[in-house]
Amino acid sequence: MKKILLFCIMTTLGICMSGQAQNKLVVNADQGKETISKHIYGHFSEHLGHCIYGGYWVGENSPIPNTRGIRNDVVKALKDIQVPNLRWPGGCFADEYHWMDGIGPRDKRPKMVNTHWGGVVEDNSFGTHEFLDLCEQLGCEPYICGNVGSGTVEEMSKWVEYITFDGESPMANLRKQNGREKPWKVKFWGVGNENWGCGGNMTAEFYTDQYRRFATYCRNYGDNRLYKIAGGPNGGDYHWTETLMKNAAGLMQGLSLHHYTVPKNWGDKGSATQFDEAEYFTTISKTLVMDELITKHATIMDKYDPQKRVGLMPDEWGAWYNVEPGTNPGFLFQQNALRDAILAAINLNIFNAHADRVKMTNIAQTINVLQAVIFTEGEKMLLTPTYWTYYLYKVHQDATLLPISFSCNKYELNGRKMDAVSVSASKDAAGKIHITLVNIDPNKEQSIETELRGVTVKSVTGQALTSAKLTDHNTYEKPNTVTVKDFKGAKLSKGSLSVTLPAKSVVMLELE
Ligand code: AHR
Repeated sequence: MKKILLFCIMTTLGICMSGQAQNKLVVNADQGKETISKHIYGHFSEHLGHCIYGGYWVGENSPIPNTRGIRNDVVKALKDIQVPNLRWPGGCFADEYHWMDGIGPRDKRPKMVNTHWGGVVEDNSFGTHEFLDLCEQLGCEPYICGNVGSGTVEEMSKWVEYITFDGESPMANLRKQNGREKPWKVKFWGVGNENWGCGGNMTAEFYTDQYRRFATYCRNYGDNRLYKIAGGPNGGDYHWTETLMKNAAGLMQGLSLHHYTVPKNWGDKGSATQFDEAEYFTTISKTLVMDELITKHATIMDKYDPQKRVGLMPDEWGAWYNVEPGTNPGFLFQQNALRDAILAAINLNIFNAHADRVKMTNIAQTINVLQAVIFTEGEKMLLTPTYWTYYLYKVHQDATLLPISFSCNKYELNGRKMDAVSVSASKDAAGKIHITLVNIDPNKEQSIETELRGVTVKSVTGQALTSAKLTDHNTYEKPNTVTVKDFKGAKLSKGSLSVTLPAKSVVMLELE
């Protein structure tokens, strides 16, 4: 009754009609417990299309400025978003990759066919040393995915020895012969990729046994401690998670999860830049499934791992559209629009909310492939709208997740509804509070009244990402159509914060 009365008063005042004052956020600034692992902001780069070749690797003799063959412009751009880890070499490519082909003098490395991705020649000029050099240049942790599908236990075990053993051994000596005296530190180690599909078409039961075998021989040398990540389920395959957790949880530190957002279907996925509002609505509802997937897989994990020792790692996610017309279908090159920036921001808010279980994620795939953050063409480089979401969200890395309660308006289209706003809040080591907000509604701005509990703040600043149309994207000719600008729509008054989010926007607020 009270609610009806309030609704009537608000309607009379025109408040509901204008969509004002129904969004109510409470941030409990003194109650955070979970750390948002910086690795939630990780990336994935496969030997696919122009991700590695042309994206990172141009070779030492290229006129494009590079350091030991790796593009300087790309390294700088990725450092600016604090890329915390990089997953490599696949993807489906990982279970076809034989690492010994990618070491030693480059002109002597064997060539292979990249059967998964366009049938092109892979000359192996980018291999283990080049990848680990790239990670050192980026200042990020390597995440190597080993070959289970077509590889052997011996091959994987020798790769670990080659990279991490400091002493006399056949593999450590080979590494030294190839110019690297000291071992590298590698923590994140994937034992196969999509072994229910391109990684061997295995059953959950068969892969679980394979995982146990392969993981046994991935040794910890010296003080290098591997964080072994089992190849996880395809979307909602809960039997896969149940089988692995029941029979192999003790041998793993992480379990991967793959979920791509495909607006239409796998035959015709939809265009990256030509879509209407109904397709936008569907895309966002499909991406929101990530929350349900994490919740349900985490519930199974809780049964076998109540201490939450094993991390859930969505190490491939993002939007997957039709390739751009006229491009190689095997190269998975797609444009990147404001819709993608919004989609990424929603997912990152979801991952933050599950920080107790989600310890790493990797958007697919950094450069020129799928939901890329960077495009390159010859010497040119371009930052996509998704890049700018990562730029805004880097403030959450290793910060404390702040519990929130939030009631918000609905975004409605043709009788379908979803929450209009997605939100996440954290406190960093210096005590600054950051709130990231996404106004999913492409038509209406959203006003949010925020109560900040357990803290006194004196100032608010912000940055926002938006554009005139959801389909807007950056091009080499117009690189700044969708980019970050200062945000003036937040005001503090007597300890409470009022924010007006523009339609279809991503906003990051900093409170001190
Ligand atoms: O990211 C493209 C492909 O998607 C990966 O190679 C594979 O793991 C997944 O199916």
